[in-house]
Amino acid sequence: MKRLKDYIGSSIGIRLTLYYCAILLTTLVLCGLVVIFGMNFALTKEANSKMNLAISNIQNSLETEGKISLNDPELVDQAGSLELWVEIYKDGELISKSPNLGNINLPYYNGPVKSILLKGQEVLISGKDIGDGVFVEVAHPLKREKHFLAVLSGLLIFLMMGATLFAMVSGYISVTNTLKPLAILTRKVKEINTGKLDERIPLSGPKDELYLLAQAFNEMLERLEKGFRSQQEFVAAASHDLRTPLAVIKSYTDLLKRWGKDDKKILEESIQTIAGATQRMERLVNDLLFLARVESKPRLNFVKLNIRELIEEIAKEAQALSQNISVTFTSCDLFVNADEDYLRRALWALVDNAIKYNKENGEVKIISRQEGNFAVIDIIDSGIGIKEEALPRLFEKFYRVDSSRQSTGFGLGLALSKEIILLHQGNIKVTSKYKEGSTFSVYLPIYPPAIKGKNASR
Ligand SMILES: Nc1ncnc2c1ncn2[C@@H]1O[C@H](COP(=O)(O)OP(=O)(O)O)[C@@H](O)[C@H]1O
Ligand SMILES: [Mg+2]
Repeated sequence: MKRLKDYIGSSIGIRLTLYYCAILLTTLVLCGLVVIFGMNFALTKEANSKMNLAISNIQNSLETEGKISLNDPELVDQAGSLELWVEIYKDGELISKSPNLGNINLPYYNGPVKSILLKGQEVLISGKDIGDGVFVEVAHPLKREKHFLAVLSGLLIFLMMGATLFAMVSGYISVTNTLKPLAILTRKVKEINTGKLDERIPLSGPKDELYLLAQAFNEMLERLEKGFRSQQEFVAAASHDLRTPLAVIKSYTDLLKRWGKDDKKILEESIQTIAGATQRMERLVNDLLFLARVESKPRLNFVKLNIRELIEEIAKEAQALSQNISVTFTSCDLFVNADEDYLRRALWALVDNAIKYNKENGEVKIISRQEGNFAVIDIIDSGIGIKEEALPRLFEKFYRVDSSRQSTGFGLGLALSKEIILLHQGNIKVTSKYKEGSTFSVYLPIYPPAIKGKNASR
């Protein structure tokens, strides 16, 4: 019993089939009962009126053809039907009875139609005084009607069983067919692991709920695969960038261990190089830690910030640090809701690039302006520019346009900038012309922040 319950519980197909068959069977049984009771009622009513008609026929014959004698067989025939049993009494004495009664005698009954058992079978009986001391008793055996109802019931039960069985088999087949994609989905899901993230569920058939489920599942796999790939690439790139300075440190310490420490010049060079490599590693680790912090969506310390002041500071600092590049700024008072430290870091990464990837005696312009609900900061350089095909990947972690180029960066600056600006509900766009220069535009919502739904259209 428990195993049967478990089996039913384990399959939606079986459950659905049984459920609908139970509904079908209940409906059929109810319909069958209505038919049987309806037929029974109609047949009884017909018998009833036949009996009443018979009594009134006899009464009419006696009244219109007064001379007809009570024992005249014609009178009994007035009952008009072979199915009826008739007895006529005069002053309590049986005068005449219908031949189909044989030697049966009806029990005395004076009243409206009722059902009694006579010699083991159900009969309807009715008796009436029709005047002049004449009493007529009519009975209607229900044998034929009962037989008819029994045959009808049998037929209905047979039809119900047949229909339910048919519904069960065809329902089970069609439900299991419909749910087949679910079984495929389950198998595929079991098969998928991190090594097999490129697997997809084949999409076929009508665009029903199961199709949408498989589609959603494929989309989820797509995202997982992308995330997993970028995670792998990230780890590979980070370890690659750490390996170079480590190799440098190792080779110089080897050198020093063997003979270098006795040579003053070599010793000096080794210390310089090891310090440089350590610094580079420290910078990478710091950048990675900061990126991890930004990506974990930290709570920022938002304050009302004047963009003009921030740009002025950054531009002056940048100018002081780079001698052969001119850094200028044009700005007006513009307020945004921002975390000053984070935003400064994001803008610095852009200004740093504008200086680093510039030409000899090039220039960097920082301009702030308002565009709709946004404060826009453009960082424009007259530098080496970026090829169009590199633009889509520019904000990816560890992406460097020309990785063979002697670069001091790790390719994390733009990724960091973008993450920070997204944390401020802003956006960053880039336009560039190869060998002519680039413009990075940072969009930040104007202070006060628009309340959703109220100022949204402003
Ligand atoms: N203003 C720019 N002009 C030209 N190339 C740029 C500019 N800014 C960024 N790039 C390119 O985009 C790459 C990624 O920039 P970034 O994420 O800041 O990394 P990096 O640490 O190399 O500066 C850089 O390596 C460089 O090739
Ligand atoms: Mg950079």
